[in-house]
Amino acid sequence: MPDIKRVGVCGSGLMGSGIAQVTATAGYDVVVFEVDQAALDRGMAGIRKSLDKFVEKKALSEAERDATLKRLKTTTNLEDLKESDLVIEAIVENMPAKKELFKKLDALLAPHAIICSNTSSLCVIEMAAATKRPKQIAGLHFFNPVPLMKLVEVVKTIVTSQETIDTLFAFAATLGKKAILAQDTPGFIVNRLLVPYLLYAIRMYESGLASKEDIDEGMKLGCGHPMGPLTLLDFVGLDTTYYIAEIMFDEFKDPLMAPPPLLKRMVLAGHYGKKSGKGFYDYT
Ligand code: 3HC
Repeated sequence: MPDIKRVGVCGSGLMGSGIAQVTATAGYDVVVFEVDQAALDRGMAGIRKSLDKFVEKKALSEAERDATLKRLKTTTNLEDLKESDLVIEAIVENMPAKKELFKKLDALLAPHAIICSNTSSLCVIEMAAATKRPKQIAGLHFFNPVPLMKLVEVVKTIVTSQETIDTLFAFAATLGKKAILAQDTPGFIVNRLLVPYLLYAIRMYESGLASKEDIDEGMKLGCGHPMGPLTLLDFVGLDTTYYIAEIMFDEFKDPLMAPPPLLKRMVLAGHYGKKSGKGFYDYT
């Protein structure tokens, strides 16, 4: 099994910065790549804030926080990732952009290196096909907020080698995450179940069956979920959910996966949820 010591992360948005944080906390040397310095700075600010919360809660010592930050380097030059044994891609959910990045990484990295995508819905095999190392390409799907959520889906394409899968399971365990094995189909395991449930909650609200507060309280108190579905939609992002639903519907043609009209209209209005200040609830 290849020894993973240095990890590259592409993208410093919510997911990329969370992945970089947990990887550096686990003791790996991490280089985070972004095209734009301002985005890198925002990502690092988020990491510092999250690490400070762990220190406040005494889940991390100040020395561990400082050592974690020392292990994190940022760059706008992809070349700086060339020593990586593993690269995790968490850039925009856009297939041409991902294929271009995979191609560049393939040309840059050592032959033993593994490249993974944190995509939530795109076909991993299509990214693998842009490289000359398809056996060393897989999905590694984290959950938001990455520092708190214990799960990682390891996504095996029809050509990913067992050695790559074993390496990723071992890597996930060193991050303190539980890995589960998923196939390369839209939504993998969790979103395949979660997205139709979230969409159904929107349909219930849209048809006037219940108030948004009652739908959320129902699932929180009746099923012990940490958040009700409409709050969770605001948290994940309505635009993100709409995008995943469209890809899932396109693949499976299952009406339960079709985005409800209200979701489309909220996205068109820019009501993306917490990140835009307004979704099902107001955050301004
Ligand atoms: N880093 C460190 N600490 C954090 C943090 C972060 N990023 N975010 C929150 N915390 C801490 C808070 O400071 C708080 O600490 P305290 O207990 O000492 O006060 C603690 O975590 C709990 O936070 P809150 O009090 O703000 O709120 P909750 O108790 O509701 O917990 C939650 C927050 C863990 C997000 C919980 O609500 C939850 O598990 N929600 C469901 C999340 C979920 O389902 N995620 C998956 C989404 S699907 C996905 O990601 C897939 C993608 O492809 C779409």
